[in-house]
Amino acid sequence: MSHIADFSNRSPLPQVNELFHRRWSPRAFKKTQLPVGIIKSIFDAVRWTPSCFNEQPWLFVTSSGNNDFDTFLSLLNESNQLWARNAGLIGFIFAKKTFTHNSTDNNKAKFDCGAAWMSLTLQANMHGLYTHGIGGINYADVHRTLNIAPDEYDIICGFALGELDQPQSLPEQLRGKEKPSARKSLEDIWQAGIL
Ligand SMILES: Cc1cc2nc3c(=O)[nH]c(=O)nc-3n(C[C@H](O)[C@H](O)[C@H](O)COP(=O)(O)O)c2cc1C
Repeated sequence: MSHIADFSNRSPLPQVNELFHRRWSPRAFKKTQLPVGIIKSIFDAVRWTPSCFNEQPWLFVTSSGNNDFDTFLSLLNESNQLWARNAGLIGFIFAKKTFTHNSTDNNKAKFDCGAAWMSLTLQANMHGLYTHGIGGINYADVHRTLNIAPDEYDIICGFALGELDQPQSLPEQLRGKEKPSARKSLEDIWQAGIL
């Protein structure tokens, strides 16, 4: 039986599509092999993200299902390894530092990567899968271990992708946090006009 999450502390306006307000970041993942076709569609969704000058500065590097999962897992902080070890896939998001068209600094690349991450997440949700962003990673080792040039790419963060499991599958200290989180009010994040 899959976990029924409690969304009672979320109060979206009724017109907001549930794709947005029912997205959340679980820690309880079920160890399953994700079908290759589904994984491909999740990353294909990334391609349709808008980006500054259409540079598509994101690079997603993920475990492949071929015995490299533990290497990816080892790049997370220990506290994140505790729960992410049951994810179907672990990945890292990199941002290309310079624009390809004129070699100047791309100061919108991280913004574009965040948008790409959301595309990936929503497509995953449409397959009934979940993502969890992971900023707690071993930044010093990621480029070297994954063979990504540090002068070319910034590391943004890691993430887990997988099938939801019951909160009881988590170590005890994490179970209480296993629920969709609340949000600031609309008034706190949107100012219409000049104050
Ligand atoms: C860039 C980024 C980094 C994050 N880093 C971590 C992390 O290291 N460990 C963790 O448990 N959760 C991490 N999170 C998850 C956030 O805490 C979570 O998204 C936030 O509390 C909102 O909850 P929700 O995604 O369930 O709506 C991260 C999320 C993002 C987007």
